[in-house]
Amino acid sequence: MMGVSTVWFVVVQAVAVLRRARGSSSEGRRDRSSPLVGGGSTTAGSNVGSSTSRPCASSSYSASLQGIGLRVVPSLQPGPISHRPPGLPRSEMMAEPYASLFFDQVRAGAGSVDIHDSANKDGFARHSAASDVFLAREVSRVSHHRRALSSLLEPFVQRSGRVADVGCSTGASAVALALSDVLSPEEVIGIDPSQPSLEAAAIRAKGCGVHGQVRFERNQPGQPLPLPTASFDLTTCISVLEFLSDDAARRDFIRELKRITRPGGHIYLSTPNPYRLRNVHDRRFLGDWRRKSGHPWASQAGFIQTLFADCEEVPIWDHLVKQRLSSCVRSNEHLPNIVVAAARAAAPWQKFLYRMPG
Ligand SMILES: C[S@@+](CC[C@H](N)C(=O)[O-])C[C@H]1O[C@@H](n2cnc3c(N)ncnc32)[C@H](O)[C@@H]1O
Repeated sequence: MMGVSTVWFVVVQAVAVLRRARGSSSEGRRDRSSPLVGGGSTTAGSNVGSSTSRPCASSSYSASLQGIGLRVVPSLQPGPISHRPPGLPRSEMMAEPYASLFFDQVRAGAGSVDIHDSANKDGFARHSAASDVFLAREVSRVSHHRRALSSLLEPFVQRSGRVADVGCSTGASAVALALSDVLSPEEVIGIDPSQPSLEAAAIRAKGCGVHGQVRFERNQPGQPLPLPTASFDLTTCISVLEFLSDDAARRDFIRELKRITRPGGHIYLSTPNPYRLRNVHDRRFLGDWRRKSGHPWASQAGFIQTLFADCEEVPIWDHLVKQRLSSCVRSNEHLPNIVVAAARAAAPWQKFLYRMPG
C-alpha cells in the first residue's frame, strides 16, 4: 500500500511539473515578476486614486489585453464612477471607461496585499507592484470564475437569493456569481479587508453592468464579519483560507462563514492542496510545510473537514472529474470511486461544498 501511494505521489508531482512547464494557470496564483509599475512599496490604501500609475510601455502587456478584447488607456486616472453612463448591459467583460479605471486601480495596488494579519510585512503581506501577467489575470478573472466556479455550483446549489463572497479581492467571483442565470442572486455582497481591492471591485461591477445587484463591504481580519447571522443562501470563499496566518484565525474565520449562512444554505470553500512539492501561490519548495510568516500555506483537508463536521459535504468531485474528462466520459457514466478519490487527492486545489444543517 505504501508502495502504491509513493508511486502515486511521484506521478502526481510529475504531472504537476509537466503542467507548469506547459504554463497552465491555477485558481488564485499570483505572479509578481516583471513589474509593470516601478517604485518601492507603499502601505496598502495610501495611494488609491493617486497618480502613481505610469503609462504602460510593455508590448506583451498590450498584447495580453488585446488578446482578451481590451485596449490600454494609460493616462486615465480613477474618477468618480457615478458620472459614468448608466444602463450598461450585463457582461463578463468590462466596458470602457471602467476597464481603464480598473487597470489604474490594480496598478495602484488593488489586489496586491493578501495577508493582513501577519506580524511580518513580507511576501504576500506586503504591497507590491502589479506585473503584466497579474494585470491580465485580474481582467480575465470573471470569465475564469464563470467557467470554474459558477459551472461547478449551478448543478448543486441552484437558485440563491443572497450570496456572500468572503475575501472577494477585486470582485471577480462576486461578479461571476451575479451573472449566473441559474443562481440568479438578487444580491451579492463581496467582503474584503483591502480598501483598494474593494474600490477596484466596485469599478468592475459597474463595468460589467451588475452594480445594482452587487455591493462590497470591508471587514477587519480577526473580527466578526460585518454581516447578519443566518442571512445568506450561499457563502463562497475562494483562495482566502491559506492567507490567514494561523490555525486559530482559520478556525474563527470558518465559524464566521457558518454563522452568516442560513440553515440549509451552502458554503463553498477552495484552498490549495498542501500535498504538493511547491506551494501553489509563491512556489516555495515544501512551502505548505515550511510555514513562513507573510507567506501563504495550505491547511490539510482533515482540519477543514473537522470544522464542518456538523454540515453535510456535497459530493462535487464526481462532477468535477467528469467536467475535466468530458471528451472521453459521458456525464451519466459512473466513475469508479477510486478514480474520483485519486483525482481529488492529486488536484492542485481542494474544493469543498457544504450544506448547513436545518
Ligand atoms: C487570492 S485573493 C482571493 C481572490 C478572490 N476570492 C478570487 O478568487 O478571485 C485573497 C483575498 O483574501 C483576502 N483576505 C485575507 N484575509 C482575509 C480575512 N480575514 N477576511 C476576508 N478576506 C481576507 C485578501 O485581502 C485577498 O483579497
